[in-house]
Amino acid sequence: MTIPTSQEFCAILDFGSQYSQLIARRVRENRVYCELMPHDTMAETLRDMPLKGIILSGGPCGVYEENAPRIDPAIFELGVPVLGICYGMQIGCQVLGGEVTPAQEREYGSTTLFLDGASDPLFKDLDEKLTVWMSHGDRVVAVSNSFTTLAHTQNSPLSIVRHKELPFYGLQFHPEVSHTKDNGKIINNFLYRVCRFNGDWEIGDYVDRSIEEIREQVGETGRVVCALSGGVDSSVVAVLLQKAVGDRLSCFFIDNGLLRENEAEQVTETFTKQYDMNFRCIDATERFLNQLKDVVDPETKRIRIGHQFIEEFDHAAKDIPEAKFLAQGTLYPDVIESLSPNKGPSETIKTHHNVGGLPDDMQFELIEPLRYLFKDEVRQMGKKLGIPDEIISRQPFPGPGLAIRILGDVTPDRLATLRRADAIVQEEIKKFTGYRDIWQSFAVLLPIQTVGVQGDKRTYENVVALRIVESRDGMTADWVHLPQEILATISSRIVNEVQGINRVVLDISSKPPSTIEWE
Ligand code: XMP
Repeated sequence: MTIPTSQEFCAILDFGSQYSQLIARRVRENRVYCELMPHDTMAETLRDMPLKGIILSGGPCGVYEENAPRIDPAIFELGVPVLGICYGMQIGCQVLGGEVTPAQEREYGSTTLFLDGASDPLFKDLDEKLTVWMSHGDRVVAVSNSFTTLAHTQNSPLSIVRHKELPFYGLQFHPEVSHTKDNGKIINNFLYRVCRFNGDWEIGDYVDRSIEEIREQVGETGRVVCALSGGVDSSVVAVLLQKAVGDRLSCFFIDNGLLRENEAEQVTETFTKQYDMNFRCIDATERFLNQLKDVVDPETKRIRIGHQFIEEFDHAAKDIPEAKFLAQGTLYPDVIESLSPNKGPSETIKTHHNVGGLPDDMQFELIEPLRYLFKDEVRQMGKKLGIPDEIISRQPFPGPGLAIRILGDVTPDRLATLRRADAIVQEEIKKFTGYRDIWQSFAVLLPIQTVGVQGDKRTYENVVALRIVESRDGMTADWVHLPQEILATISSRIVNEVQGINRVVLDISSKPPSTIEWE
């Protein structure tokens, strides 16, 4: 992105941590504009920017390794406060006169931090004892006399250090993750008390900038096809795209046959009646179900659905010969869990269909304006764009749809069963006063049968699990302690109204160690 000269700005130099984007999000939450930049960005480049602070991310390497990512030492001479996190601390200390070695033992998880320099502006309103999240193999073991130590843990005597003359802080732990229990104070203090940001950035700025970027990418005449699912993400993308390129956007809604009850009809109605968009609904149910025949492995399901999805678009877009671009509502959690954006070591947990499943020979250039955002930020963006609340507050629904909520074979019958059970969950849960705080509530059809009794007769039928979770961004989640009456109503309605179900169970696991979806 190009930074407007009037905009105060925080640079995040990215050393490859899986948390780099999370740092960016924390900074944005503090209403400060920031961008991730390559770790070897030169001080000269930054000098011309309205820079007020720099954060150095963590990273998977050791600073003593031959090919470890480096930093321009002149960064520390810019006169702008620098916060080094984990690897960022280590590289800063190395450059400014410290020694980093591999620790005897990797330190991973929560630990207690003791603040030794409580009067520092970084610690304003913090307790002297703090639970923080560590994830490191190396550590700084010695710093020159130019440093002051501000905090320690049992294993890391140098957990926070500050340079005496240069505005550099080093943190061995990760203040950006929610497991560090400082209520966001450390990053907030760094931005406001150390860097002295005004904090006047807002999500609307992101909207304007995304529109500019889309225009730049697409050019004067390029045409775009958009994968519109009717969920909040793709709706925001479609509206953004329409604002950016007008009627050079064509939206396709692929009905993959894996949607919830009445969903295809609702989406079609919204986008044909409320928006004046080029909108086409393609019924691809049969082709998707063919792809899923006899497939029980979750990853295979995801990959096949992903491929079919792209093929459908490819086909539909042939009607628009100049269409070179495909817009998608990929969010940041999809990106980190599918692949490491920095080619770091983060593992594939699930292949999200809009990222990992793309075939190599795909003919579209991707436009993914939400790629660095989390769900709540997308909702804010949607509000700013004037998208109706019923779309913005919709619960997330995964690209592979009900296929990953039917464990085992996905057949038309099983789809019909789950759809009905799921509709009952939706109907009842909407009556709950805390509905807005629920991230997702849905039914899962299990691949087992259990014995029941109905009207004096033995039954041997399917089981439905209820998955109802609260979450901020889908990265972590907890199950919702719903009032028992609601659970009782859902259960009794499902076993009475849905043919083929004789048992309902409740999923009471958090993420991690579970995930939200069952596959
Ligand atoms: P998990 O199951 O990984 O889900 O804890 C986290 C969030 O992501 C949604 N999800 C997906 N969204 N494509 C999507 O667009 C996918 O392939 C996909 N898989 C999971 C899930 O519903 C939850 O909100």
